[in-house]
Amino acid sequence: MRIDVVTLFPEFVRQCAGLGVIGRAAERGLLEVEAWNPRERAEGGYRRIDDSVCGGGPGMVMLIEPLRRTLAEVRKAAATPAPVIYLSPQGRRLTQEKVQELAKLPRMILLCGRYEGIDERLIEREVDEELSIGDYVLSGGELAAAVLIDAVGRLQEGALGDAQSAAQDSFSDGLLDCPHYTRPVSHDYGDVPAVLLSGDHAAIGRWRRKQALGRTWSRRPDLLEKLALGQDDQRLLDEFKLEHKGHTHEQNH
Ligand code: ADE
Repeated sequence: MRIDVVTLFPEFVRQCAGLGVIGRAAERGLLEVEAWNPRERAEGGYRRIDDSVCGGGPGMVMLIEPLRRTLAEVRKAAATPAPVIYLSPQGRRLTQEKVQELAKLPRMILLCGRYEGIDERLIEREVDEELSIGDYVLSGGELAAAVLIDAVGRLQEGALGDAQSAAQDSFSDGLLDCPHYTRPVSHDYGDVPAVLLSGDHAAIGRWRRKQALGRTWSRRPDLLEKLALGQDDQRLLDEFKLEHKGHTHEQNH
């Protein structure tokens, strides 16, 4: 997959895309991330990329022309068609489902805003989709773009060492992930649940499913409401509720 990012901070995006799973995916040719700076396509000695808000008020708005020129160049850089995605708090909320859909594309173009945002006319003409990573305001779209690149990049075929691990992610089946433990099995902070040491894979599978259901029920009931639980899942969740009676929240802080 190829991801082109239009940003006033290309170095930030390049550095994020060079780290960890995403960096390795790029090295292995599974992912290509290119950053484009609209300031380099801005006119005049000052290379102006923003101006004051029409109608008055604080802040600055990004100009149409530098972004328009940059997007034209980005499109020309590869023949593969790509949606232009603008990261902003006004967008539809990003979900794992959306991430899975985007991960299948051969290419996407991410547009990062700064200041009060981008002139609405550019958004209307050039943007296919507006996405938000959550109901809070960042000072620019770069962190949101980095989040999207990471979420989509790790789903590229071969990016994760263990093909299983993406299937087990939180949200991939609508539930939060179960807890995980490693050695030492006995510690001042507590012991690893005995079932995980039993070697009984059916029992381990049931325990993990019960924890995933229970955590989702206690922490994110909104997710559980969207699912129609089968009989087995309902039984596991009932067991979890019985075992955790009196705890309004399973977390111990
Ligand atoms: N830019 C600023 N805030 C944002 C958010 N919450 N999501 C995506 N892009 C943003």
